[in-house]
Amino acid sequence: MRKLLVNIDHVATIRNARGETVPDPVRAARVAEKAGAAGIVFHLREDRRHIRDEDVYRLREVIQGVFDFEMAATDEMIRFCTQLKADLATLVPESREELTTEGGLNMEKVKPDFQDRVFPPLKEAGVAISLFIDPNPKDIEIAAELGAEVVELHTGTYANATDFEQKNRELERLRKAAVQAHDFGIQVNAGHGLNFENIHDFLKSVPHLKEISIGHALIADALFNGLENTVRRMADIITDNH
Ligand code: PXP
Repeated sequence: MRKLLVNIDHVATIRNARGETVPDPVRAARVAEKAGAAGIVFHLREDRRHIRDEDVYRLREVIQGVFDFEMAATDEMIRFCTQLKADLATLVPESREELTTEGGLNMEKVKPDFQDRVFPPLKEAGVAISLFIDPNPKDIEIAAELGAEVVELHTGTYANATDFEQKNRELERLRKAAVQAHDFGIQVNAGHGLNFENIHDFLKSVPHLKEISIGHALIADALFNGLENTVRRMADIITDNH
């Protein structure tokens, strides 16, 4: 069954804007799980611009479902993630200048380093590895060669498509990538830029989806409808329960 994972980073963004303790991302995580999220995603960035170390420790105490630690593959993050025994390490490219994660991993470039330095400690700690990649056949092949349990397909280009043709082209790339990953025995997750408008066509077009990670659109909608209502509505769409 498909599941919704809620990314709570931007609850922390609002909190940090005033240097206050509210809104509390851990409270948001509890509400999201109560409303039907199957787990929580947070991205502990090198610059700690939203989620901070103490949030991660507190999240570990309360999250009942999937504890999805999104991170750059630095030694510091690998240590943190293995120490907390996350369910999933979602590895992403990260640069200080970006407003959000801008593209998938460059798999050809990172492959040797991931093989030697990144995968062994995570595997040894029993942390499943998810690679955030663009829907390219070559990238999925490399994910399979590395022995990744999961790929998260980057849906940003689909979400940002401005015309019908580009949107359909992107859906077709995502569909093919999902089939290819599934054929390799890799779990298919997806995320980035998904919202209440674009989710329906995405779900209709792309098979084998397991976990869908959504942040910004949910936190934005929650301002008007309340986090519990917003998450319940999206969880129902994703689990086909509406
Ligand atoms: N998945 C990954 C790997 C991401 O980096 C992000 C953005 O933090 C998301 C999913 C969620 O994207 P959005 O906030 O646009 O829903």
